Amino acid sequence: MIETRAIASLETPALLLDPEKLKANVQRMHRRIAALDGVLRPHGKTAKSIDVMNLVSEALGDAGLARSLQSQGITVSTLAEAEYYAAHGYRDIVYAVGIAPNKLARVAALLRQGVKLTVLLDSLAQVQFLMAAGEREQISFGFLVEIDSDGHRAGIAADDPALLLIAEHASESQWVEFRGVLTHAGGSYDCRSVDAIKAMAEQERNAMLHAVAALQKAGFTCEMVSLGSTPTAQYAQSLEGMTEIRAGVYPFHDLVMAGLGVCQVEDIAISVLTSVIGHHSGQLIIDAGWMALSRDRGTAQQAVDQGYGVVCDEQGHVMADVIVSATNQEHGVVRHRHGHDLSAEEYPAGRLLRVLPNHACATAAMFSAYQVIQDHERVQAWPRINGW
Ligand SMILES: Cc1ncc(COP(=O)(O)O)c(C=O)c1O
Repeated sequence: MIETRAIASLETPALLLDPEKLKANVQRMHRRIAALDGVLRPHGKTAKSIDVMNLVSEALGDAGLARSLQSQGITVSTLAEAEYYAAHGYRDIVYAVGIAPNKLARVAALLRQGVKLTVLLDSLAQVQFLMAAGEREQISFGFLVEIDSDGHRAGIAADDPALLLIAEHASESQWVEFRGVLTHAGGSYDCRSVDAIKAMAEQERNAMLHAVAALQKAGFTCEMVSLGSTPTAQYAQSLEGMTEIRAGVYPFHDLVMAGLGVCQVEDIAISVLTSVIGHHSGQLIIDAGWMALSRDRGTAQQAVDQGYGVVCDEQGHVMADVIVSATNQEHGVVRHRHGHDLSAEEYPAGRLLRVLPNHACATAAMFSAYQVIQDHERVQAWPRINGW
């Protein structure tokens, strides 16, 4: 029997998760991808929790959308996630952050356990240290080449000659295996309209088509052609030519996604439960500072700047125009966007509030457990991992 407790008995700050919202978000996204005949490889970096991944699987099963995630592939952003999910039966994992040599002993250990762990790189230097480690460990490392489809972060351009050099170099060694190409249109987070996200999704796909064509012309086949982010997954018009699409934050959603038009504020499945601990010049002080909410200011450049988060009442109803406007380590300052007083009568010390996060990954990372809401009033603690 798993223990539950009343939300009102929780010590604050605490990370609340609404499983019904999460399931609805999952079903919405997977239905979209299924309608495009696509395969979604969920990113486990936001959840960092086997229980949450099981809930995603349950949501898919309920909707008749897919088998459990264990039998499909997932994406991770740390080796800690890869080891954790592998220990819970996941066998096909893409580690979607450029590889460094000091991580290869752990990668090799996972490969020896029978995990198909695919690493990511974008330079000949990385292929070379992979080869050296392969010989040392007597194991072959499978890898993808990262393509830069939007000038946002990492990767090489689809027409960079280095792409073919990497594939050629790899084909000469038994210690590395070229598996294909990967891109992440993180630039979709900066789009200012749904049409711009649609165009970004097509730009992301075109970059991959371009890279695959160049490789094919040189005699190389791509077992994997992997692209994606939540905004481009939500608004992709075609996934033709792609073997999979990756998305991570979609089960949770957050204010950045709502600001982009990818979800509604009401869809956001996580929030930080906090207590009013003081009053100052018509503003509230709460016990959720940046150590609870994170320093993420992802909505700062959007049409509506949500400060460090949107405030809801204890039941999770959004309070219009009440936001966390500033944070210290353990203090948050809550104010009305238009300067109206937030009184001690209405918000006495000890009153519970919830804060919706700008960026679900960053906020969840501040906690070691989810408090999963059951029947509106009670919660069950689900552990999550952090670190590398
Ligand atoms: C390489 C890579 N793929 C996929 C994702 C998932 O993107 P999102 O969180 O928008 O779903 C991320 C997120 O940072 C990423 O870095």
